[in-house]
Amino acid sequence: MSTPQKIYVAGHRGMVGSAIIRQLLAQGHPADRIVTRTHAELDLTNQPAVRDFFAAEQPDQIYLAAAKVGGINANNSYPAEFIYQNLMVEANVIEAAFRQGVRKLLFLGSSCIYPRLAKPPMREDSLLSGALEPTNEPYAIAKIAGIKLCESYNRQYGKSHGVDYRSVMPTNLYGPEDNYHPENSHVIPALIRRFHEAKVNGAPSIVIWGSGTPRREFLFVDDMASACLFVMNLSKLLYDRHTQPMLSHINVGCGKDLTILELAKIIGGIVGFEGRITFDRSKPDGAPRKLLDSSRINALGWRSGINLESGIQKTYEDFLSKYRAKL
Ligand SMILES: NC(=O)c1ccc[n+]([C@@H]2O[C@H](COP(=O)([O-])OP(=O)(O)OC[C@H]3O[C@@H](n4cnc5c(N)ncnc54)[C@H](OP(=O)(O)O)[C@@H]3O)[C@@H](O)[C@H]2O)c1
Repeated sequence: MSTPQKIYVAGHRGMVGSAIIRQLLAQGHPADRIVTRTHAELDLTNQPAVRDFFAAEQPDQIYLAAAKVGGINANNSYPAEFIYQNLMVEANVIEAAFRQGVRKLLFLGSSCIYPRLAKPPMREDSLLSGALEPTNEPYAIAKIAGIKLCESYNRQYGKSHGVDYRSVMPTNLYGPEDNYHPENSHVIPALIRRFHEAKVNGAPSIVIWGSGTPRREFLFVDDMASACLFVMNLSKLLYDRHTQPMLSHINVGCGKDLTILELAKIIGGIVGFEGRITFDRSKPDGAPRKLLDSSRINALGWRSGINLESGIQKTYEDFLSKYRAKL
């Protein structure tokens, strides 16, 4: 029997990285063939440290789920950190992987790579067809650079060295290990926390920013992890048939969106909040609709499996375990 691949999961303590580890273990990958380093142990912006790590560990495959991630506030306040750190992490990991002879790598991008006015559902080929959303442009530019790094290494070293680096673009994700910070979190964890606190405090109503009408798509993080393993393990023949050398990234979504009001009602129901939901229409709504076109990954044979209600239920249980331990 051949030795299982040695897999490095970069960002294993994050929401996506931890879900990838769960998925690898669930699919029978031996724990002792998974390599991890915390941010404190290995700063991926440090090129010599990254090279030494790869030389010492010699992984066969890499899931690149480490990134500096944040909401609008953080992106707007720290644009230099967002572009610099993400560019450095990607460039260091991809170059060191190549130098060390790693043939398989999966890079995680984000749906913010698409132009601000891209028509929903957003297709892969709308990349670089228009101006980006200014609030997270530096982050999006770094993510686009990540896709182009993968494609460029494939084009230059694919035939000669067997390099096969792929990218996936997730829609909005949620699930265990999410960030439940009251201001700096995404919509689902933020609403879970606010509804829970409103219930505990017996508040008669809860106010949500905006009109409640924007439509958004959400994917449970364990579905995302299953998509990551699926894309990593696709045969090269099939992958090549569904992608192009300079248009190789693959969207990952559930294909369905809902309004923020509908989402708030689902979360309120799961949390058990019985008060009223009201909207502060003086606050901005953002884009009216954000939905990815996931027909490329669907045609390859992958579909999401966890519905929103059961995903939010699992996330609420994760929140409660942390909330009881004082977050
Ligand atoms: N969450 C979403 O809704 C979403 C949606 C679309 C795409 N994505 C993509 O999915 C990927 C993972 O996101 P996530 O939600 O799992 O983020 P996350 O929970 O913040 O995890 C990111 C991980 O990367 C680590 N990291 C950051 N900078 C590092 C560095 N310089 N050296 C070493 N480790 C570093 C972080 O460690 P520290 O916390 O210690 O810094 C953290 O463990 C990202 O590429 C993101 O763009 C996420």
